[in-house]
Amino acid sequence: MSENFLTIVNLSKWYGNGNIHVLDNINLDVFRGEFVSLLGPSGCGKTTLLRIIAGLEKQDKGEVRLKGEQIVGPGQDRVMVFQDYALFPWRTVLGNILFGLEVRKIKKEEALKIAQNYIKLVNLEGFENSYPHELSGGMKQRVALARALVCDPEILLMDEPLAALDAQTRNMMQSELVRIWSATKKTIIYVTHSIEEAVYLSDRVIIFTPRPAKVKKIVKVDIPRPRDRFSREFVELRAKIYEQLH
Ligand SMILES: Nc1ncnc2c1ncn2[C@@H]1O[C@H](COP(=O)(O)OP(=O)(O)OP(=O)(O)O)[C@@H](O)[C@H]1O
Ligand SMILES: [Mg+2]
Repeated sequence: MSENFLTIVNLSKWYGNGNIHVLDNINLDVFRGEFVSLLGPSGCGKTTLLRIIAGLEKQDKGEVRLKGEQIVGPGQDRVMVFQDYALFPWRTVLGNILFGLEVRKIKKEEALKIAQNYIKLVNLEGFENSYPHELSGGMKQRVALARALVCDPEILLMDEPLAALDAQTRNMMQSELVRIWSATKKTIIYVTHSIEEAVYLSDRVIIFTPRPAKVKKIVKVDIPRPRDRFSREFVELRAKIYEQLH
């Protein structure tokens, strides 16, 4: 099963003419529909790994395959979602979400229908004509999510997407993310610094060493969703991951 979805094989990466070793022989399989979180010390290479999967960066050794095909550049099957939302400030909510469909030259009427579905999915009905500066952080991240999903990618690559939000909004967006993930059945690779967030969201948590990043430990989260952050099993798993990280 895994061989047919995302497979990372012996992946290594250096920056600075080979002086900065960032990724050290990463091997990882991600299953279709899986929610996987990447946890590791700052600067260990998590964003670099996401960028290689996105096809925005080239590795020096090894390969990444998606459904058996080697990734050699960006593609519509993968889309990144960032902490700073990366919305177009001059476009409305609807305009932002329509963007990917315009690029793909989808007919206006059909594009509007698709966009409206995703606006509903992320609970932004009524805000179609608002501009990003008129939205809260949580709402901007909903727009970013809808804009990512609208082109129906296989994989969402999310780089600390909720890190800029206050604690309460962040918790709310975590449960929204689980709902949207369940509804769309997308595969999500999710970088976070929050152990709690990783345990709340993920099927598996991949723990990396300090740079150069190696896979240190893979922790399976077998707690049924929606997860209770205060349950004994949740707290125990958090502690176990904390120990692995430090
Ligand atoms: N374009 C680049 N050129 C040179 N060095 C880079 C480049 N991009 C990243 N690096 C270096 O590679 C290392 C890994 O960076 P990366 O951004 O992948 O880490 P990270 O795990 O995402 O960190 P954080 O948790 O702080 O976001 C860092 O030492 C960084 O300085
Ligand atoms: Mg990073």
